[in-house]
Amino acid sequence: MGVDEAICDAPVDRYALDPAPAPTPKPTTKGVAAPSPVAPPQLDPVAAAQAAADSAHDLDALRAALEAYPHCELRRGARNLVFSDGSAGARVMIVGEAPGREEDLQGRPFVGEAGQLLDRMFAAIDMKRGHPDPARALYITNILPWRPPQNRDPSAEERAMMRPFVLRHIALAEPDLVILMGRISAATLLDTSEGITRIRGQWRSLGDRPALPMLHPAYLLRNPAAKREAWADLLALQAKLRTMT
Ligand code: URA
Repeated sequence: MGVDEAICDAPVDRYALDPAPAPTPKPTTKGVAAPSPVAPPQLDPVAAAQAAADSAHDLDALRAALEAYPHCELRRGARNLVFSDGSAGARVMIVGEAPGREEDLQGRPFVGEAGQLLDRMFAAIDMKRGHPDPARALYITNILPWRPPQNRDPSAEERAMMRPFVLRHIALAEPDLVILMGRISAATLLDTSEGITRIRGQWRSLGDRPALPMLHPAYLLRNPAAKREAWADLLALQAKLRTMT
């Protein structure tokens, strides 16, 4: 159709716009033209996310900043904001993809079928959310705090908007290391297009923290043979934690 560029996030119904030309500013009683109203500058949602995330100085403030963030349409279809679960002082922080149906209903990450597998995986190396010992505890969040409709993949725009919040979340929770659970989490936080089956099990850096990409438990439910790799990654995590004490 000859369109090669999108210049606006929201459609504009130009038929509904007033075709009359803008009135010429009227002189004031002092004979000086009054300034014409200036359109507010277009807000960049990623810059707005960065500013909101930077201004949060603890986890409660970060949650409040997400609740107040207006630019992500997913919030309108979600029942709950899914912020986190587990202990914020844990040595290990897991970042998944997005809430599914159960998570949206309960307002907690990883409580559906994939979440139950995640719990069993970490129980195998004696770790769990809510463990009283920070060395054995997990802290869990997602790239997206709102469920995408029909569990579709988050778009590049949605991921870019949420990235500043997740990076701030990690900085405020101060884990020793981060598990990037699945391809969306790894691609978003490492800013890479490398596939998860290629980079899983390879230690990467996220700022000054080690980060380990792993296969998502939902993937393991569909591909049980890949549990062998997941087990190797859990052992690598366990070994890394020992070297960091
Ligand atoms: N999958 C995720 O990545 N996160 C959840 O919270 C649930 C399923």
